[in-house]
Amino acid sequence: MVAFAPNDPAFLEDPYPFYEMGRQMSPLFLAGPNLWLIFGYEHIAAILKDSASWSSDSRPRPLPTAEQFAAMTDAQRMAAEDYSPSMLGEDPPRHTRLRSLVSQAFTPRMIEHLAPRIRAVANELLDEVIPTGRMDLVEALSYPLPVIMISEILGIPPEDREMFKTWSDEIVSGLGAGIDGDAESNVRPETIDAMREYFERMAGLRRADPRDDLLSRLLEAETDGEKLSFEELLQMLILLLVAGNETTTNLISNAVIEFMAHPDQLQRVLDAPEMLPTAIEEVLRYHSPVQATVRRATRPVHLGDKTIEQDQLAVVWLAAANRDPAIFTDPGVFDVGRTPNRHLSFGMGIHFCLGAPLARLEARIALETLLARTRDIHRTDSEPLPRVPTFIMRGVRKLPIAFTPV
Ligand code: HEM
Repeated sequence: MVAFAPNDPAFLEDPYPFYEMGRQMSPLFLAGPNLWLIFGYEHIAAILKDSASWSSDSRPRPLPTAEQFAAMTDAQRMAAEDYSPSMLGEDPPRHTRLRSLVSQAFTPRMIEHLAPRIRAVANELLDEVIPTGRMDLVEALSYPLPVIMISEILGIPPEDREMFKTWSDEIVSGLGAGIDGDAESNVRPETIDAMREYFERMAGLRRADPRDDLLSRLLEAETDGEKLSFEELLQMLILLLVAGNETTTNLISNAVIEFMAHPDQLQRVLDAPEMLPTAIEEVLRYHSPVQATVRRATRPVHLGDKTIEQDQLAVVWLAAANRDPAIFTDPGVFDVGRTPNRHLSFGMGIHFCLGAPLARLEARIALETLLARTRDIHRTDSEPLPRVPTFIMRGVRKLPIAFTPV
């Protein structure tokens, strides 16, 4: 029996036996009074596609009464009161409106223009470490590259980037709180205040002196005559700056980890570099950077032979769907040439990852550049790697590697 102990280091190291067991026992089961865990690909796809029956606002119901609210701690109250979700936690029509404000900036065509700049940044970052023959890949490349790119897209000054790392680490560590029995998020009110103050100042600067950046465009943007409120802007910036970066960092690091663990697969990519895009899709499938997401039933829903009642929550394990043998042949095998590869790592339906084209391009250029400038990449020790401390994400905080410079 494999226990659901999501904060246990052993679970973070290898959650796959748990997913496997869940799928075999039942592709969906009730894990708590109001909490379902869903493992099967077809059920997960059905949930993600049906945004009328499944809300992305996953706050447990009923929402707190005035007395309950008064008895809460500051952090609980903040979560309940200031609930101003980003588009990720919204349903139509608010979701449609928020998404339409930024979707233009993230289309594959817009993103493709960034390729030369991404390559220049990747090379610059590697220039510093290649001659030494060793690096912490996370620190040297997979963390800074996505942060620099999204900061440039938004128009955030380079000197402020370090602050985001601190905020981002804290927010990511707090993900999943509530689902694993810990009712409070780990994000401190001070952090939210600091972010709010920072973005208020940046918004003031851009309002006074608009530039050719996404922040200036968001401040000017109106849909149906309605401006983006400051809260909405704040949530949008946090979503773009934090969630998108951490996931792309993890994708790049996970790719290098799996290339080192499967030298035969790396050799296939080195022999035929045009395979890199399929290899990246396979890394996404094999280790979904976002392991799970949550939905709330808006009405009773029949799924398989079960009925999920209104307001019950469902944790949909994207990472388990990605290894469902009903969809993927030999799902436990890492195969850089796998096609088709209908993984769910970017989600599905109306919330399908807006940043997918950017994440794919950054990962491709980062890996191309790294592989062109190094030979014989290997781990410097056999210690377990320090993992991102939440079961919602799969990634490492450090990845020390050594190599021969080219
Ligand atoms: C490998 C990298 C990434 C992965 C695995 C990933 C994964 C996901 C997933 C699974 C969702 C859907 C969640 C749900 O339905 O509940 C999502 C949504 C989203 N992602 Fe990503 N993401 C990545 C990179 C990025 C980047 C680089 C950005 C932007 C700069 C970004 C921005 C967004 C936004 C804005 C949403 C919300 C879309 C909506 O609600 O309509 N992501 N992402």
